[in-house]
Amino acid sequence: MERTFIAIKPDGVQRKLIGEIIARFEKKGYKLVAMKYIVPKRELAAKHYEEHKGKGFYEGLLDFITSGPIVAMVWQGKGVIATARKMIGQTKPLESECGSIRGDFGIEVGRNIIHGSDSLDSAEREIGIWFSEEEIFDYESSL
Ligand code: CMP
Repeated sequence: MERTFIAIKPDGVQRKLIGEIIARFEKKGYKLVAMKYIVPKRELAAKHYEEHKGKGFYEGLLDFITSGPIVAMVWQGKGVIATARKMIGQTKPLESECGSIRGDFGIEVGRNIIHGSDSLDSAEREIGIWFSEEEIFDYESSL
């Protein structure tokens, strides 16, 4: 079953959007199979964002993402990678559709609330960076 990595960034936590964001994914029908609330170490954040190394915003991005707690999650379900990206919106909140998370709650690209994997390859890579197999629970629902 398809899985994606989603992180609520420090700004999303500080703005008390954790419940709102999790509710959107749950109501859509996706299954939360892993979650941790952590202040990421710089090394971990650097691994996650290695494709952006050398860009002007890279060091600031690492400073910010390691500045406070984030909610790292794995969501599972049919088409979850692409659908989560639609639910999240564009990288720049001002270019995001209203109705998306960034479109509804953000303005600044450096404070865009949430991260979601952009492809199957990056989902697999990012899940592997943040979680071990033992931390992922693909439970069956009896309800
Ligand atoms: P994310 O989806 O997590 O992937 C890379 C992140 O880099 C992006 O969201 C933004 O938070 C950040 N980012 C991209 N472009 C800029 C920019 N021009 N200035 C600051 N941060 C940026």
